[in-house]
Amino acid sequence: MKNTIPETATIIPSDFIIIGGTGHLSMSKIIPALFWRFIDKQIDQKSNIILCDREIKSKENFEKLQKTFCVEAFERDKINQKHWENFLKIITIIKLDVISGEGHLELLEKLKEKFDPNRPIIFYLAIASNLFGNSCKFLRDSGLNVPQSRIVIEKPIGKDKVSAEEINNQISEVFSEKQIYRIDHYLGKETVQNLMALRFANTFFENQWDNKNIDNVQITVSETAGVKDRIDYYNQYGAIRDMLQNHLLQLICLVAMEPPSYYEADQMRDEKLRVLKALKPLDQNEIQTGQYRSFSDELGKNSNTETFVALKVMINNWRWAGVPFYIRTGKKLSTRASEIIITFRPKPHDIFSKFKHDNIESPNRLIIRVQPEEGLKLKLTSKAPGPGGMRFFPSELNLSFGDTFPDRLPDAYERLLMDVVRGNQTLFMRSDEVLAAWDYIDPIVKLVKKQDPQLYRTGTMGPEDKILMLDGRQWLDPKDE
Ligand code: BG6
Repeated sequence: MKNTIPETATIIPSDFIIIGGTGHLSMSKIIPALFWRFIDKQIDQKSNIILCDREIKSKENFEKLQKTFCVEAFERDKINQKHWENFLKIITIIKLDVISGEGHLELLEKLKEKFDPNRPIIFYLAIASNLFGNSCKFLRDSGLNVPQSRIVIEKPIGKDKVSAEEINNQISEVFSEKQIYRIDHYLGKETVQNLMALRFANTFFENQWDNKNIDNVQITVSETAGVKDRIDYYNQYGAIRDMLQNHLLQLICLVAMEPPSYYEADQMRDEKLRVLKALKPLDQNEIQTGQYRSFSDELGKNSNTETFVALKVMINNWRWAGVPFYIRTGKKLSTRASEIIITFRPKPHDIFSKFKHDNIESPNRLIIRVQPEEGLKLKLTSKAPGPGGMRFFPSELNLSFGDTFPDRLPDAYERLLMDVVRGNQTLFMRSDEVLAAWDYIDPIVKLVKKQDPQLYRTGTMGPEDKILMLDGRQWLDPKDE
């Protein structure tokens, strides 16, 4: 069955101020997301986008550079070229230094034109988290922490719990929790939200969703790309802080959380927080790190930073006691895939045991494919047709979102930016969640300092497994599932 994506309503006119506006995050994610929303007429000419940066390229240079990031939009549709010219009309570039305050008058002048308490002003801090405090002070000193202001910040917030607390305190001296949007873009991905729909808009799976029925959960977020021009940042953070502390822990939370009473920001976040607080501290043999072979060469010096991490997560509560969540993520691996695989327990009794010799039997599995080729698959065992007795074959129910919704699926940033305008914090992290995530991660960082990451070849799935084998299991290859 083919469906079309429901139409979106135009948002109220807003000002988007991107600090770090000509940097990599802004160019590669934020501006293309706003452009797509403009193409879809969700943002119109009444909104403003103000890019602020210490070093600015001329508008002409910026346009050339930016066009390369928005190329997907042009490739899809020639009309988008026209939209692009109109889109540029709502963009202003301002040279601004949040530490010295240089450029603030120009920003104020621009905002004054349309200043209205009903018009959201969104400050997106697309800069390193150690500059968040100064940026907030700058906004306060410039009188921009008005009730209609919202501030958007990116993960990872800090490098550990102490620095995250410090950053949270600096921000909350200026903005209230209701004004702070901590982005984890994995929460904005279509299939991640579909996981909520699958669990809580249906009865079918929720009845099976516990340690009586589930044997283990595997979550893989594998990337084929390396760290490219972010190598200095990455060398300080590594896979544990860059991916595990946020994206992967959030995925665990969504799989494991109890149903909230309502799909509302604080109720969702309360339930996710409970999961984070129930995570069992790791033992040394439950974690493994790796580094792709050319990493130190790319960096130009020796480094112990992990570009791969795998771990066995246990959740100390009644629903999940005894069910391992095996998690892995890494760079320069063989496939680009983000996938959650839920393996159900074997049946309690096999009425077909006498046919076993010519049967293929595989456990029931639910595969939630976050990207690419978003969709859900349920692996079952079926009878092979024919009069030759009971012979089985592995079959699958396959719901591919690409087939069901042939239109382009919006990127996570598009959805999340529109949620900021609407004042909906459901898909954003609360400060206590971030701190609870660090509570789990800080000891892990200490633990891995004691071991050197194992080197692995580019194009493999990381170092040879040392965790699942202890439980008599193995990683399921995302390509085969
Ligand atoms: C970012 C990480 O948050 O997520 C990157 O900093 C990573 O290192 C990226 O590559 C992965 O996002 P996606 O949407 O491409 O899976």
